[in-house]
Order: sequence, then C-alpha cells, then structure tokens
Amino acid sequence: MSTTSTMHAVSIDLQDRSYTIAIGADLLGRAATFAGLPQASAALVVSNTTVAPLYAAALQAALAPHYKAVHLVVLPDGEEFKTWQTLNLIFDALLENGCDRKTVLFALGGGVVGDMTGFAAASYMRGVPFVQVPTTLLAQVDSSVGGKTGINHPLGKNMVGAFYQPQLVVCDLATLKTLPAREVSAGLAEIIKYGPIADMAFLDWIEANLGALRACEVTALAHAVRRSCEIKAHVVSQDEREGGLRAILNFGHTFGHAIEAGLGYGQWLHGDAVGCGMVMAAQLSHRLGLVDAGFVARLTRLIDAAGLPTVGPVLDAQDNAGRYLELMQVDKKAEGGAIRFVLIDGPGRACVRGAPEALVRQVIDACCAGA
Ligand code: NAD
Ligand code: GLY
Repeated sequence: MSTTSTMHAVSIDLQDRSYTIAIGADLLGRAATFAGLPQASAALVVSNTTVAPLYAAALQAALAPHYKAVHLVVLPDGEEFKTWQTLNLIFDALLENGCDRKTVLFALGGGVVGDMTGFAAASYMRGVPFVQVPTTLLAQVDSSVGGKTGINHPLGKNMVGAFYQPQLVVCDLATLKTLPAREVSAGLAEIIKYGPIADMAFLDWIEANLGALRACEVTALAHAVRRSCEIKAHVVSQDEREGGLRAILNFGHTFGHAIEAGLGYGQWLHGDAVGCGMVMAAQLSHRLGLVDAGFVARLTRLIDAAGLPTVGPVLDAQDNAGRYLELMQVDKKAEGGAIRFVLIDGPGRACVRGAPEALVRQVIDACCAGA
C-alpha cells in the first residue's frame, strides 16, 4: 500500500458530545494526533492478541507525552469473546492500575474491541472518556462512529450496551495494510450499505472502484472511509439514539444478525452476514413492490464481486424460515414481537416497516442454500 500524508477531518455534530473523525495514513504513531483530549494522568489502551503486537507500541509511544502512565490490556480475539467475561478484563485492568474517573480509554482494534471498550468507558465509574482507533475497514466506516457500544448475549447480538460517544476517532489507513482480504470484504459490506440507503452516486463510485478498494489502494480507501463517515455522521447527528432515522443504518442487519446468532458468533464474519442480509432485504423490498428486479440484481452482483456471500446458510434443517423468524424477533427494532425490516423503497432511500410472514418465508426459502 502506498501512503499519503493528507488528513481529512469529518465532524459529527452532537452539541456537547460533538467530535472529529480524523482520516489519513500513519496517524496513530504521532503524538500530535492526540493533542486536545481531556487532561488525565493515565490512559488505558485496549486491544487484542492480533492487533496489539502490530500497533500497540506505536500508539503507546504517541500517547506517552500526554499521560504519566499508559497501560495496556490485551483481550482474546474474536466475536465469540464479545462477552461479559471479556468486558470484565477491561475493568480488572482499570482497577488493578488504580485508574481514576479521568482515565482515557483507547480502543485499538476492530469493531469488537471498539464496542467493548466503549461500553467499558460508559460504565467505569459511571463514565470515563474514550477514543476510537479503529484498525479494520469495517470499524473505520461504521462501528467506531456514532457511539453504539456493547456486547453480545447468547440469545441476541449486541443486546446489552449503551449509547456513549467517543472524544475522537482516528482512522489510520496504514493499519489496513495488514488486514486479511476476507476482513477487507467484510468492511466493503458496510460501505456498500450506504449506497442503497442514502447515496446512489456513491454506489456508482464503489462499483467503479471495487478493484482498487479490494487491493487496499490508499486513495480509494480514503474516499470510501470519508464518504461513509460523512453519511453516518449526517444520520447520527439527526437521530443519535435511534428514535427513527438511524435504523436505516441497519440495512441487511435484521437477517444478518439472525445468521450470526443462529450459526454461533464468529462462524460468519459480521460483514459477511450483513452482505448476505442485504441481498435478503433487497429481495423482500422487491417482493413488496418497492424496488424493481434490476436493482436487486445489481446489488447482488456488487456484493458477490466484493467477495461476500449472497446465499444464506441453513440454520435449521426442519424449519429454516421458522428459525430465522424466531431469531429476528429478538432484533432491537422488533416491537411487541413484530419484526421490522430496513427496506429500500427507491434507489438511495430506505424505510423501516413490517412485512407479511408468508412473504418473509418466501424470501428466506429463495435466498438460503438447499432450503
Ligand atoms: P473484529 O473486531 O473481530 O476484527 C476482525 C479481525 O481483524 C479480528 O481478528 C481482528 O483482530 C483483526 N484485525 C483488526 N485490525 C487488524 C489489522 N489492522 N491487521 C490485521 N488484523 C486486524 O471485526 P470487525 O469487522 O472490525 O467488527 C465487527 C464488530 O463490529 C461486530 O461485533 C459488530 O457487531 C460490530 N459493529 C458495531 C457497530 C456499531 O455501530 N457500534 C457497527 C457495525 C458493526
Ligand atoms: N451500525 C448501525 C448504527 O450505528 O446505527
């Protein structure tokens, strides 16, 4: 990957909880990146067994001029560790190091580390500041922005958590050079999502630049991260706590979360499940008469070309559709047990609504391998 010294800043406007998303190459190793954060005597970097050996020393060195002590806690790696037990390791580290209520937490890793660190920051001493330093494409374009934090429950994905905004997000594009190709594809799922729900010109751009994105060319990555963050910042600024509009960011996630929970966390990547979930949600939109077949075919082609699955797994050999429906009832958008889907009701426009069960069953049957 070539690098560039250009830095872009996207603002997220949330009154006294506003912050900047800094996007550029080689940002995390510079002390200047972290100037202007709340004063504190200690920082705790939270990372995992894969990311810490790659980037923790550089981040700790960049933080050293700002804090008397920079501690590190290294969590096990994987979606299956997004649990209470792992969260408690962060609290152990904070308490064992005598961290006070001004201590700043730094989430160094993908969405799993980011979601757990944010939740720890929301609850340690009833709230300490935190900074997101996302190192996956998925985390840079989505999970590090907007303040959704939390952990999984065996019965449902991201079911326990808090809305809690970071002080700063640092998207260092150079960290993506060590990301496995499969994880790049997972990030592309969340990037593609922004097209159908908000910006068809961005979808055109993704189609035209897919090769460069999959090859992690820094100019293409910089544009994709920046535009994704702009769209997400715009939506979150209008509806921080998902009273309505913000739900559109969950396009593909109702089916996707069912896949993740149904297979067992960590079996499919979150991005894989979202990719396949978008195909299912687009099919449902079409069967409800909201978009034409050409739109579904175009989106399915792009998801496939991004290296993502477009055929869903069978979660139950006896009643596959029934199992999907059961899992989707646990979705946070469900109201009184009625499932609500993010659907496309015109290119670049999304809505949230229910659908007849028979139609949802048809979509699941049509979209799952051998069902
Ligand atoms: P992840 O955090 O599991 O990271 C993917 C893998 O890449 C891990 O093995 C990780 O150790 C590794 N990795 C991270 N950075 C690396 C690097 N630079 N080089 C090499 N390896 C690296 O997964 P993810 O896709 O980043 O995030 C998925 C999680 O994010 C899910 O739990 C999902 O629910 C959550 N999420 C949250 C939000 C939100 O708004 N809070 C939005 C979308 C997704
Ligand atoms: N990833 C969905 C949201 O942040 O609302």
